[in-house]
Amino acid sequence: MKIIKKVAQLQKEITKLKKAGKTIGFTPTMGALHKGHVTLAKQMVKENDIGIVSIFVNPTQFNEASDLKNYPRTLKNDAALLEKAKVHIVFAPSNEEVYPKGLKTTLKLDLKGLDKRMEGQFRKGHFAGVCQVVKRLLDITTPDSLYMGQKDFQQFTIIDQMIAALKIPTRLVVCDIVREKSGLAMSSRNSRLTGDHKKRATIIYETLQWIKKNKNRYSLSDLKQKALDKMSIPGFKPEYVSIVNGNTLKNIRKMGAHDYVVVCTAVWAGEVRLIDNIILKK
Ligand code: PAJ
Repeated sequence: MKIIKKVAQLQKEITKLKKAGKTIGFTPTMGALHKGHVTLAKQMVKENDIGIVSIFVNPTQFNEASDLKNYPRTLKNDAALLEKAKVHIVFAPSNEEVYPKGLKTTLKLDLKGLDKRMEGQFRKGHFAGVCQVVKRLLDITTPDSLYMGQKDFQQFTIIDQMIAALKIPTRLVVCDIVREKSGLAMSSRNSRLTGDHKKRATIIYETLQWIKKNKNRYSLSDLKQKALDKMSIPGFKPEYVSIVNGNTLKNIRKMGAHDYVVVCTAVWAGEVRLIDNIILKK
């Protein structure tokens, strides 16, 4: 496995591989890797000749300076996990490599309002930063396939829209959510939870499953209110529970009128903000 820090070196490598007819898979991450990331990487390696994982804590997508500062950075451990997953190249660039002075990387994109809902309401500018960095990383790596997790439902939906809007010749592959045995969705931010909060954070997935089980028993507004109540345990603060159309991310009024329905939620567990989702219908 090669660890590459410079864009020019990575591009040279990729040009060589493409000339040799190799297919390229790419998985962008911000490091602090866990089993969820490793599952994406393994699927990528299985489905492509060459698998590239990037590790870059992208400053432009953080809406809170403290979140950026506290984001865990564990490159040595990450590299060991990726080596075991048989990844070929780890790209771990500096801020200057991703955003060199003089290169315009901001985008003006029609995201059809996808970025305005749910996370967009609470994390201003977050998705502009995500699109900016993913576009730049796609420009550098020019992969055949891009691997992202369902864990960040709104994120992959927006990247899908960006790929379509900019006619980028890359296929998006979405991988299932990997969970702890307890049901808690794996996340780099879980390492910042206190032991007690981590135990009780299982209430999030339990609540999502409860919604799925009771989707025909209550009205949508009752389901959402009951879910908010269930997750309002001491030290926890749900920010939203949204039941949306999986394509448009618009709140739905009637389950029956849609074939693709997902519940998304964000919950503060102490100082840590967790997100999760469950598909009700597809
Ligand atoms: P990060 O949070 O590191 O996640 C990288 C990828 O791993 C994302 O596609 C995310 O959905 C996926 N992932 C995270 N937890 C997962 C889990 N429990 N199961 C399955 N997949 C999971 O998302 C980002 O980084 C950044 O926004 C990025 C796209 C890299 C742009 O900076």
